[in-house]
Amino acid sequence: KPSAEAFIPADHSIPSLQAALPSCKGCDLYCHATQVVPGTGNIRSKIMLVGEQPGDQEDMQGLPFVGPAGKVLDRALNELGMDRSALYLTNAVKHFKFVQRGKFRLHQNPRMSEIMACRPWLLAEIEAIEPKVILCLGASASKSLLGGTFALMRDHGKLIESPLFGNVMATIHPSAILRARDHETGDELFRFLKEDLGAAHKYAI
Ligand code: URA
Ligand code: SF4
Repeated sequence: KPSAEAFIPADHSIPSLQAALPSCKGCDLYCHATQVVPGTGNIRSKIMLVGEQPGDQEDMQGLPFVGPAGKVLDRALNELGMDRSALYLTNAVKHFKFVQRGKFRLHQNPRMSEIMACRPWLLAEIEAIEPKVILCLGASASKSLLGGTFALMRDHGKLIESPLFGNVMATIHPSAILRARDHETGDELFRFLKEDLGAAHKYAI
């Protein structure tokens, strides 16, 4: 079974995790990606945002949420008066998964086995950050921390007390807003994202 476990250092501090992460070969995704994308932001944050995986831009820059999805996230944070640099941001899967189509690299959803392989990195980060609330962005992060049967559209915005991680909430992934079939749907999904971010923020202070 693919797993990052053998690559996790004994010391779970963020600097030591960041130093070890580029050596990970816990699943096959490191083979085609440009680089690994570690978590970033305020290591004292009471909120930890967990995305799915780096996208095309993130893969090239080595930073999470710097592409189009990151712009949507920034808009939601700005409208709420929240400061991105005050938060800690990471992903459930640390390498970009894509298929090449001509000059484009198309995002592919990670498999459950890849989410599970990369989970030890996420668990170590949670241990290091000790957030008061973890906000999962989208289905992949929710699967990692809340299980494969979690119903995102039904249960987003609800505070879930996880015996393993403390308080976890899930919300809409910013990319789902970009992919929405029409403006109305996009606006509604954006409103959910904003409400849930605001609720997590209130809860964390
Ligand atoms: N989508 C994610 O889930 N994470 C990123 O870092 C960028 C896009
Ligand atoms: Fe390791 Fe995660 Fe990258 Fe797979 S996706 S190689 S488990 S860091």
